[in-house]
Amino acid sequence: MDSTNQLLKPVSTKINEEGNLEIGGCDLVKLAETYSTPLYVLDEQTLRAICKDYKDAFNAYPKINMMFASKSLCTMATSKLLFDEGFGFDVVSSGEIYTVYKAGVDMSKVLFNGNNKSFDELALAIELGVGRISVDNFFELSLLNETAKSHNKIVNILLRITPGIECHTHEYIQTGHLDSKFGFDLTQVDEAVELILNEYKNLKLHGLHAHIGSQIFETSVYSDEIEILVRELARLDEKFGLKLDEINIGGGLGVKYTKDDCPPSVYTIAEIIINKLNDCISKYQIDAPSVFLEPGRSIISTSGVTLYTIGSSKQVPKGKKYVAVDGGMADNPRPSMYQAEYVAEIANKKENVSSKKVTIAGRFCESGDILIKDINLPEPEEGDILCVYNTGAYNYSMASNYNRAQKPAMVLVNNSQSDIIVRRETLDDLILHDEIPDRLRNND
Ligand code: LLP
Repeated sequence: MDSTNQLLKPVSTKINEEGNLEIGGCDLVKLAETYSTPLYVLDEQTLRAICKDYKDAFNAYPKINMMFASKSLCTMATSKLLFDEGFGFDVVSSGEIYTVYKAGVDMSKVLFNGNNKSFDELALAIELGVGRISVDNFFELSLLNETAKSHNKIVNILLRITPGIECHTHEYIQTGHLDSKFGFDLTQVDEAVELILNEYKNLKLHGLHAHIGSQIFETSVYSDEIEILVRELARLDEKFGLKLDEINIGGGLGVKYTKDDCPPSVYTIAEIIINKLNDCISKYQIDAPSVFLEPGRSIISTSGVTLYTIGSSKQVPKGKKYVAVDGGMADNPRPSMYQAEYVAEIANKKENVSSKKVTIAGRFCESGDILIKDINLPEPEEGDILCVYNTGAYNYSMASNYNRAQKPAMVLVNNSQSDIIVRRETLDDLILHDEIPDRLRNND
């Protein structure tokens, strides 16, 4: 069965009677007029549809727990919506912890990840009652134990391991291979367990955690990962008499950024994961563990689009035609960081028949700030509204203020209604934290 991560555009995308693109029943040209551009638009229907896909697909394994990887998009409104859909959260910083906490999330459904969590962040996690901390390395084991002791608490942990699995994605977003900055090497697990059992009395180990990489299209890597995690549970039971009953297999399922991308369906992945789990449970003769998934991109990417206004253009003599928009690498750094590709349409061009090959340039002072190379669009003109698809994940969450750009607003659309969920930064927001020391004020 197909799932929403396999779509290029939000499920509610259509051309309305005025000949404009609409999403969630909202005319994109009107959204741009009302809220200005660049504008992140999130389609609630698509987001709820993928949540349902995940829940339905994994229904056959009762001990499944869905966590959303906040790093892909972390706002209070999306956290609230996903929590109401039954998701917990993978968080990686005090900022993400605080956001989900303020959104009203049950903190026992939150898992704190990361390879260099600070004392202050660990303390905040303990104070706010974060459910699990996935400990990444020996330094953190000791730091967390001290922090827990100083709070007079026993902290529930997982061990992040490096399963040694290579997946075919951009090297910057592979994480499970052996030479990775994340997690304990498999050869270090016993030493970590011994420390927890014998010395770190304020830590309670529940299970193992791994994450292979992101934007994954191969299904076999999940089977390999489950084999390793379940085998480790059985081995630790055998060696230490330790009954661990949780595994977290991370996130990583891909999405369709261009028509050439063919990510597997959530239903296909779920079937492979559940079959492999059941095989391993009988092969290694363990009780069925609780299984945690923490997808980010495949949950949120397809529901998001970004609207830009087209401004200047430039025809290089005998070269490319560059069409510039009012955003770029500050609101979407992915093309310049990972050569990521995107598809776009002009929201106000009725006849969306391809007619002109252009390159969409961002407005930032960097030659590499090109959003889309060589895309066919109906002759773009100044004032047109460009809709770039599949920008829900790792766009707003990786946005910067480069060139002192104001971060765009984000609106949630559904049933012809649009609501601001992140307001646009103002010029005053940009200087809010700036200080001029007195000694520089001599001439005032
Ligand atoms: N769990 C862990 C431990 C992770 O490190 C990640 C992503 C996820 C879950 C969620 O993975 P997802 O389902 O979103 O693929 N900035 C890059 C992606 C970095 C992913 C980092 N870790 C990009 O824009 O492609």
